[in-house]
Amino acid sequence: MPRRSVITGTGSALPPGVVTNQDLAGRLDTSDEWIVERTGIHQRRIAAPEVKTSDLAVEAAEKAMAAAGVTAADIDLIVVATATPDDTFPATATRVQAKLGVRRGAAFDIAAVCSGFVYALTVADALLKSGGHSRALVIGAELFSRILDWEDRTTAVLFGDGAGAVVLEARDAGDRGILAARLHADGRHADLLYVDGGPGSTGTVGKLRMKGREVFRHAVANLSSVVGEVLEDAGLAPADVDWLVPHQANARILEATARKLNLPIERVVMTVGSHANTSAASVPLALDAAVTDGRIQVGDICLLEAMGGGFTWGAVLLRF
Ligand code: ACO
Repeated sequence: MPRRSVITGTGSALPPGVVTNQDLAGRLDTSDEWIVERTGIHQRRIAAPEVKTSDLAVEAAEKAMAAAGVTAADIDLIVVATATPDDTFPATATRVQAKLGVRRGAAFDIAAVCSGFVYALTVADALLKSGGHSRALVIGAELFSRILDWEDRTTAVLFGDGAGAVVLEARDAGDRGILAARLHADGRHADLLYVDGGPGSTGTVGKLRMKGREVFRHAVANLSSVVGEVLEDAGLAPADVDWLVPHQANARILEATARKLNLPIERVVMTVGSHANTSAASVPLALDAAVTDGRIQVGDICLLEAMGGGFTWGAVLLRF
């Protein structure tokens, strides 16, 4: 029986501050109607200035650990996916480690923007399967509000803050766990979605810039193809998928991906309406929402996918 990485607990954290489309329409040339029609977003959470990415990560991680029934002493790997770390260094994962009281194993960050959680899950899976680690916290945590140009209506309306986490545990037997994972990158498209400054090495602070229409086109094509790859790797068909848990960028991208898979929209976990795009946090936030409300049950086949700046993209297929 192969060693497999099983998600044994999920958790999430959202700052209490709600910013609605109407709030944004009060200070930008936009409208609730435009935002809802083009993106499906109704509101987003924005953190208070004193909140750090590691604070949200820790809150999500604590909930995931409680759900899994484990304590800090049981964790020997922490991987934080973030494009908005607390500091240039040390890694936000080491801040999380200290705050949680984890005292052994490794802790590091992964920067793959919106695909960060899928990247982190894949890397943690490989480390667990190699036998060097036994129980990981895999976290996606972002404060995108800090890198938005609040004067730019083409990006300011799309993003929000939040964190999601899972406990990922190596198991020797059973059919649960990660069945297939694929990662991709194509650095030629960096200029379609990037931050025009920062980190410390440049001595500048940057803001997010995006050519949305072109990103949209690449997203639909890349996501459909990587989803096909993991299904083929696992010997499964789209009809075997119980839940699509996609990166929450835009309801229209989610609907297009579901259509290509021939998956009914009820099988797609959608949180973009209330969270907006939380980058690396969006997949674990969506996963936790569907686990918490009882939609995703142990044994269900879940397909996680994401695409983000770089471009980077990937998918993970698992039996929950
Ligand atoms: N309010 C009102 N009007 C707006 C707004 C706004 N907030 N933003 C743009 N517009 C205007 C534009 O200026 C443009 O006006 P023009 O025709 O006079 O020039 C018009 O609306 C149409 O703009 P488009 O960019 O063509 O609109 P589109 O239908 O492509 O929707 C959007 C834009 C929502 C950004 C879409 O392209 C998108 O979601 N792209 C994916 C980007 C994304 O999600 N990136 C996140 C990270 S990568 C990922 O997660 C996949």
